[in-house]
This record gives sequence, structure tokens and C-alpha cells, in this order.
Amino acid sequence: MLSTAPRAEPRAARLSITDRCDLACVYCRPHRRDGHLPAERRLAAAYWSTVVRGLTARGVRRIRITGGEPLVHPDVIEITRAIASVDGVEDLAITTNGTQLAALAGPLREAGVRRLNLSIDSLDPHRFFRITRGGRLSEVLAGLEAARRAGFELKTNTVVLGGEDGNEDELAAIAELAWAHEATPRFLELMSVGEGARIRGRIVPYARVRQHLAHLLADDEVARDADRGPAVYARARGGRRLGFITGTSDTFCSGCDRLRVSSDGQLRPCLATQDSVDISQAIRDGDVDAIGEGLSAAWAVKPGDDWGGCTEASAASVDMRATGG
Ligand code: 5AD
Repeated sequence: MLSTAPRAEPRAARLSITDRCDLACVYCRPHRRDGHLPAERRLAAAYWSTVVRGLTARGVRRIRITGGEPLVHPDVIEITRAIASVDGVEDLAITTNGTQLAALAGPLREAGVRRLNLSIDSLDPHRFFRITRGGRLSEVLAGLEAARRAGFELKTNTVVLGGEDGNEDELAAIAELAWAHEATPRFLELMSVGEGARIRGRIVPYARVRQHLAHLLADDEVARDADRGPAVYARARGGRRLGFITGTSDTFCSGCDRLRVSSDGQLRPCLATQDSVDISQAIRDGDVDAIGEGLSAAWAVKPGDDWGGCTEASAASVDMRATGG
């Protein structure tokens, strides 16, 4: 049956400024040097503010810069500064793996990024190395400290992994680390999207994630933050907060106001389908109206409250590397 609930308006955009990444986390990327877009298809740095002008003209207000890993883009600071100055951008955030953050936290904050999410899946250097296929934990910890000092509104993202070499035994320690850096820790269910579908046996359901953290929580309540995406937050002891993203136990389709732009200029209305609208020519032409028309076309094929158009197969075939979470 078709959903009758009114569809949310587009308000939030995630911009994947590069599909490259210096890590290859087991749930995201097959290996470190796989399938990058050919250089000629990648949008030049100067085009990103054009993209954002097209989106804000149609009501988008919140921008998040993602990847791949956005901080491996050589022009990330210039891109960020240009986006921050576009009329209508009320919130500018970035999601990063943190490997370059020790050097870039200050410049990013100065360029106008207000909120930063850092991915961290283990505090054991060897396990971290294996989950990220080559990452150095010490770099990321230095990045977290630099982000704290730079004064971001800070969150950590931890994908909970079951099975041998999972991180279920570390969740409380990761929460404590985040709090020690004035960050809000968040725990993500592994989603069967892209590479995640290949290791779906390692999904740890939300109920079990909560059990691991129960001793830290003040009560059983959770609540969503208005205008802030799919996470729900619980109150933890000592006036602190802790978040969950239950991408497998729940869908977030109801009220979803988000879309994605890939590094080659494709507008994607939904994380879990392959639908896209090509706005690359409109971007290169500087045609803000045509970008807005692309947005309308993408929004028209966005799945409704019931994940219409999205199947297990469509989700499994999504390329998370180029999608940015
Ligand atoms: N399931 C859950 N989270 C994922 N991310 C990437 N792939 C998956 C997946 N299959 C998360 C990363 C990062 C954010 C960008 O997306 O951990 O925090």
C-alpha cells in the first residue's frame, strides 16, 4: 500500500567530496586501493559551493561533509570554507576517521565546521588495525584530542561488531573515552548495506548493545534530537549522554529529510537504494536552478515510510565507500 504520511521536506545533505579513504574498515570497503572514480569524473573542489547553493535554494539547511574520508581530499579546508559562507547553510558538520585530524582540526574549525563525528571502533591498537585494515589508533586518538581542543561539538561513532575479534567487550571503555574528550559516544548497529551485507553474521542487535552499556545508563528512556538525523540518545549517569543508531532494528524512513551527493555529482535520495539523479552537468554549468530541479526529481523517487523500493538486494549493492555513511 502507498504510504499516506506527508513526506518530509529535504533539509539535510551529506556531501561525499571524495570516494578515497586511507582505511578500509571491514564493513565498508573491500581493501585499501579499490575502485576509485576516475579523476575526470570527480567534481573539482570549486564546484562544491555551487552544489550547496543549488540545495539551499530548495530549502536544505544542514550540510555534512563525508567521503570516502573527507580529510584525504587535498582541498578540504577550501571546500569547507566556501560551503560555510553560502547563504542558508545553518549547520556545517563533518564525519571523519580522524587519521588526519591532529593537523586539520584547528583549520577545519576556523573554516566554519561546527560539529564533528569521529569514527572509532576499538581502543586496542591491534584490533583497531585489523578492523580498519591498517589504521593506527594513536593517530586517531591524537585527532580526537585535537578536535576537543579545537572546540567542536563532538561525537564518536562506533560500529558494534560481534564475533571473533569484535568490539563488544570495549563499548563501555569507548564511552568513557568519548566523555573524557567532551564527546557524545554513539553506537551503531552494523547495517547490511554494501560490504556490511557480507558480514551480516556479525550484527549485534540494539538490545544486546544496550546490555553492554546498561551499567552506565541513568534510566531506560531514549529520545531523538529534533532535526538531527536518526540517532536516539539515552541519559547516562553523571549527566552525560550516549547515543544509538539502530540501522538494522529500525528504519529511519519516516520523517527522513536527508539526501546525499556523491563525488561525481550524483544526487541520492536514500542510503539503501541505488536510485540517483545525475546533476554533474548542472554543477559544471553553474546552473543552480537545474541543481534544484535535480533535487526535486531525486525527492520524487525517495522511498516512503515503508522502505518502498528498497530491498535487501538493493541495500547490499550500495557502495558505502562512495556514500559516506
Ligand atoms: N553499518 C553501520 N555503519 C556503517 N558505517 C559505514 N558503513 C557502515 C555499515 N555497514 C559508518 C561508519 C562511520 C559512518 C560514516 O558510517 O562507521 O562512522
